[in-house]
Amino acid sequence: HGMSKMEEAKNVKDEDKLYKYEGVLYSSIMSPQENLKGLENFEARPDDLLLVAYPKCGFNWMVSVIRKIRTASSGQNEMPSGPPLIEFFPPEVQQLAKERPSPRFLGTHLHPDNIPSSFIAKKTKMLVVFRNPKDTVVSYYHFMNNNPVLPNTKSWDAFFTDFMKGEVAWGSYFDHALAWEKRMDGPNVMIVTYEQLKENLVDGVRNISRFFGFTLTDEQVQTIANESTFNAMKESSKNSHGQHGNVFFRKGEVGDWKNNFSEAQSKQMDEEFQKLLAVLV
Ligand code: A3P
Repeated sequence: HGMSKMEEAKNVKDEDKLYKYEGVLYSSIMSPQENLKGLENFEARPDDLLLVAYPKCGFNWMVSVIRKIRTASSGQNEMPSGPPLIEFFPPEVQQLAKERPSPRFLGTHLHPDNIPSSFIAKKTKMLVVFRNPKDTVVSYYHFMNNNPVLPNTKSWDAFFTDFMKGEVAWGSYFDHALAWEKRMDGPNVMIVTYEQLKENLVDGVRNISRFFGFTLTDEQVQTIANESTFNAMKESSKNSHGQHGNVFFRKGEVGDWKNNFSEAQSKQMDEEFQKLLAVLV
């Protein structure tokens, strides 16, 4: 359904594409109020697999990896259907989710405090993906201008300012990071970073499959890692995403921020990060 929403978005004015729910911006096309309201009563299960990531931190990459892990370990072919983001589920899809067999694979970009409380109560396992904020904001900037669901940004500088204030869809990167930092010791939480995954995807795939309780052979792990490199995924996106492939697979690199950031912006971001670390000690 994600792609028909992209078509639909072409008829929506930029200024109507974001709205605020409880003080945080969301996509009015993908996550209207009725979706977010309904989620308050979402019934999580202890054996759900939940993927959590702030936008542009590598969510779709890990969706693909987790689907491949499941397929490899069960010998079943899971149909690659749209993004499993719970906040994109309209109320009727939230209803349907109740009938889906376990283990369900679900995902969210929501701030941990806004994740339906039953996921916490049921001790559902959560894989949390983070990425350095400089590359995240650059990726987000390009996404704004390539994804018709989101408004075009006026300029890099204007978007950078919005990002630093948390005035972007799904709110402040720094709020998310801080909230996760406080919870990362939980036994049901595994945190990985985009940078670690780029560095060693084989280890990443192995650790993720173990965390979710799947047993894969070394060969299966290696095959999944090979199929999940940026180039391999971009290539196969021609089938899975059609003309929209470029929206989700842009550069896939660490350090692209250097092509956008000014000296002053880099300093500002470093200072914001220092402030965050200071709160933690
Ligand atoms: P860039 O814009 O820097 O290229 P999300 O899925 O959370 O929206 O994240 C999108 C970012 O992940 C984009 O970053 C995209 O290119 C990158 N990405 C997607 N698949 C990837 C892969 N297999 N390996 C590395 N990066 C990937």
